[in-house]
Amino acid sequence: MHKILMTYDNTEGLGALFSNKEFKVEIHNKLSQEELKELIKEYDGLLIRSEVKVTKEIIEAAQKLKFIGRAGTGVDNIDKETATEKGIIVANVPGGNTISATEHTIGLMLSLARHIPEAYKSLKNKKWDRKNYVGTELFGKTLGLIGLGRIGTEVAKRLNAFGMKVIAYDPFANQETAKNNNIELKTIDEVFAQSHYISIHSPLNDSTREMINAQAIKKMKDGVRIINCARGAIINEKDLSDAIKSGKVAGAAIDVFAKEPPQDWTLIETDHTVVTPHLAASTDEAQVRVAKEIGEVLVDFFTKAIVRNAVNAKK
Ligand code: MLT
Repeated sequence: MHKILMTYDNTEGLGALFSNKEFKVEIHNKLSQEELKELIKEYDGLLIRSEVKVTKEIIEAAQKLKFIGRAGTGVDNIDKETATEKGIIVANVPGGNTISATEHTIGLMLSLARHIPEAYKSLKNKKWDRKNYVGTELFGKTLGLIGLGRIGTEVAKRLNAFGMKVIAYDPFANQETAKNNNIELKTIDEVFAQSHYISIHSPLNDSTREMINAQAIKKMKDGVRIINCARGAIINEKDLSDAIKSGKVAGAAIDVFAKEPPQDWTLIETDHTVVTPHLAASTDEAQVRVAKEIGEVLVDFFTKAIVRNAVNAKK
């Protein structure tokens, strides 16, 4: 019998796991770090979303843990190094959120270009103000993607249809994918210099942490607009807020924050920002898809010793 700790309570799509007699799945959501550290000792497998932080301390407290499954894409909330040292597999399901994250990105871009949230707020307050909410078209503008994985590519496909020119920076980009989707690959400085809109779709790691900072912003076009549905810490929030206040950056649409929930509200409170609380993957379809997929990866791991979607290597 494999004991699995699940830290979210939406069990839709997980029928195959719950009905499997080889597993005992227990749901504990809203655990504090201290509670998780205590509880983790008894479990063979752990299923999480992004709000749970699987730190070195948690992994070291685990006594039987063999598998950490992330129902979603980003694995920056898991100490993969310590997991690897302890021979624990860390797996994610990178494809399940793609369409939802893509559509949210485009929703934010349009909101930013057309001042939809501000105009909505104004009209709800019974003001008929058309003058202050004149927008700009996406048509004919250059979109610079930072990161050309699944989401970046899907964003490009849709915005090509809007008549945008799409350029991208990604050191691991697939040339064929770029060519087939009418995306020009560029250096990071070329993306900064040529884009009217910059949308971030990279993972958070040592080379992307705070890559959008004052120095990078200086290299961008005046009036650039920045969209981030990837990870908050890729942007230095204070530098971005300062650049919006100075007028260098015309606006930003931000779904993800360096700390979630935010501890510093500076960027959120800055004018010309459109903000959502990490909602890009929050659709009925994506939530069920990722839960179902990670459930299948977990069952295969424990019952057939098949390791799928591992983001670390077992020693
Ligand atoms: C992901 O990495 O899967 C998305 O950002 C959604 C999330 O973390 O909740």
